[in-house]
Parts: sequence; structure tokens; C-alpha cells
Amino acid sequence: MNQRIPLVDLRRQHALIADQLEGELQSVFASMRLFLGPNVQAFEHEYAEYLGARHALGVSDGTMALHLALRACGIGPGDEVITVSHTFFATVEAILLAGATPVFVDVDAHTQTMSVEAVAGAITERTRAVVPVHLHGRMADMEAIMALARAHDLRVIEDACQAHGAHRDGRFAGTIGDIGCFSFYYSKNLGAYGEAGGVVTNDDHLAERARVLRDHGSATRYHHDVVGVNGRLDEVQAAVLRLKLPHLDAGNRSRRRHAEHYNRALRDAGVLTPALGGDDNVFHLYVIRVQERDALQGYLSDKGIGTGIHYPVPCHLQPACREWSRGRGSLPVTEQLVGEIISLPMFPELQDSEVEEVCDVIADFTSSYRGASTEVTAAE
Ligand SMILES: Cc1ncc(COP(=O)(O)O)c(C=O)c1O
Repeated sequence: MNQRIPLVDLRRQHALIADQLEGELQSVFASMRLFLGPNVQAFEHEYAEYLGARHALGVSDGTMALHLALRACGIGPGDEVITVSHTFFATVEAILLAGATPVFVDVDAHTQTMSVEAVAGAITERTRAVVPVHLHGRMADMEAIMALARAHDLRVIEDACQAHGAHRDGRFAGTIGDIGCFSFYYSKNLGAYGEAGGVVTNDDHLAERARVLRDHGSATRYHHDVVGVNGRLDEVQAAVLRLKLPHLDAGNRSRRRHAEHYNRALRDAGVLTPALGGDDNVFHLYVIRVQERDALQGYLSDKGIGTGIHYPVPCHLQPACREWSRGRGSLPVTEQLVGEIISLPMFPELQDSEVEEVCDVIADFTSSYRGASTEVTAAE
């Protein structure tokens, strides 16, 4: 069905850069330098400067960014890596592709990010790294995670794939751990027009290792010091990212305004709205909790409103992860959340009238469909 109010509408965002982009693409095609050329170099410089990091590397996608980060940190077979199950599957996939063993921990019900107590309980003598995920655009508790990791000599690899521009106490998501990873998948707060990703670090040695691994393990063409991968960023994506980066902060401010609007308008709607936080939440997704989630999703869809579930099956219950999971019941908060979460339309160019309409339809649902007695009350 045609959605009048989609979950994300990228056509509205394209209008911001359409004219300029045409000229930039013409110069890329005129030069026929298509990979790791001047646009990639300029974007790496501009993104590092934006984040206040020493190094940013353009790579082929966010999964590759995580994979390169793990490998640059020397993580491999026999190493345990602690991460969350409440994330997009790529977080875990990257750990497995590096040959390491994922160890799943639960999340905090309030923030839906890594529970630091759970991490503390999962550390063994084989633990080498922790991968916190800044899920839905909200930064994990990096201060506590860093303190714990430093006490146990663990690497911290931030999955900042959903948190471009989130910052706390003057430090950006992706720049606090040893190395940070970004996805520039087209629907992200900073999105390319195909696949793209980034690796960010303040550590010269890690940056150099990731740089070599990104290009088939070669610092000099056709000379391969180690076995790497093809993880290069292309010039077309870098040209798009360069044009979009100056709009990132304004886009994040609009997202926040919409989140505040949603929270106000849904106050009496019998659903659990997300804590707003401060600049450490850039609302890549606006996620509420409701017990009759599937019924609400169907109701909204019938009214032409797009929604998403991020994500319906946690990683530890995916068939692909059977070998590394302690099974159903092992992560109770995660398992409860995945049955109740629903992402509402969220993108900078969303109109106030559209937010109001979504909230009115939700209020209709809670009053007429179910009555207000069964609202979710946990985790406040
Ligand atoms: C939390 C998280 N990690 C990793 C990834 C992987 O990024 P990509 O799709 O660019 O490979 C994504 C992207 O969807 C993500 O949301």
C-alpha cells in the first residue's frame, strides 16, 4: 500500500543537494578516478575534523568498517568479543568474519544500549574486546564501558553506525573507544547513495593497519604484507557524503525536535516513549514500546503510515548464531524489548502535521482498539 507518511523519505533530503551533486558527479566521471581519489581523501579529512578525531578512513560499508576495526585491533580466532544481541545483525557478523567468538550481553531497558553490569559479568580470560552499539542514535554509557575495559585491558570498538553526530561531554560517538565504525547506508543520518562506511580512530597505528587491510593488505600496489580485503570507498559515494556532511547537524536538530514533539503528543496515548537525553541521542530511529505492537503496526499501515521493527529477532536467537548463544531466556530484557518496539516515521524533513497525524492515529488505536489498561509501564 502507498504510504502517505513513510518511515523515511529520502526524496525530500535529495532535494537539498540535487543541483550541486550533478556538477560533482560530472567531475568524478570526467576524471574517471573512481576509488580512493580526491573526494575520498577530502571526505576523510572533513569527517575526521567534524568528529575531532585524528583519522577517518572511507570504507565500503559499515559491516566492513567493523570487520576492519576488529582486525586492526588484532582480534581473531580464540578471542572473545562482548557485544549486545539487540542490534542489527552486522555487528555480530563482523565479529564472526574476523574469526572471533561473540559473547552476548543484555541491554539496559531504559536506554536499550549495553548493560555495563552485564559486561562485567561476561569477562573471561579470553575476552579481548567490547563492542558497544549506539542503537537508534543513542550513545551507550561509554564512560563506564571505557573504565571497565581499561581495568581489564580490553579493546573497545564502537558500533556508531546509527549515531553520526551524537556527542556527550564534547566527545563524539565513535571517537571515545580505541576505534569507531560508521555506516553511511543510504537511510542513515549521514547516508550515501549506495554502500559506504567509515573507520575513525585517534590511534596512528590502528589507522595504518586499517588502511592497509582495506586495500588487500597492501600499502604499495601489488605488494601484500598481510591478507586484507577489498573494503575501499568509491568516489561517487564520497562526493555525496561531502555534500551531505554540512547538513548533518541541522538534520539531527530536526530529528530531535520531532522526537520532542512525538513525546509530548504521545504523553497520554498509553505507549512508552523514549527518554530524550541530550545531544547524545541523534534519533536515527524514534522507537516507542507498546504491548500490542503487531496490531498497532497493522493499524498504522492501514492508515498509510510506515513503521519498522528494529529489530524483531535478536542476534542470539538467530539460527546463524545458535553455536554462540545460550538460547531463549538468556537475555530477558532484550527478549522483552523485541516484542514491544516499533519505530515511527523519523527523518529531518518530516512535517509537524505528519507527526501530529501519526500520534492521533496511535491515540485512536489505544482508546478504541484496546483501552488504556494494558500499556507498557516498565523501564521508566
Ligand atoms: C548498528 C549497525 N551496525 C552495523 C551496520 C552495518 O552497516 P552496513 O549496512 O553499512 O554494512 C548497521 C547498518 O545498518 C547498523 O545499523
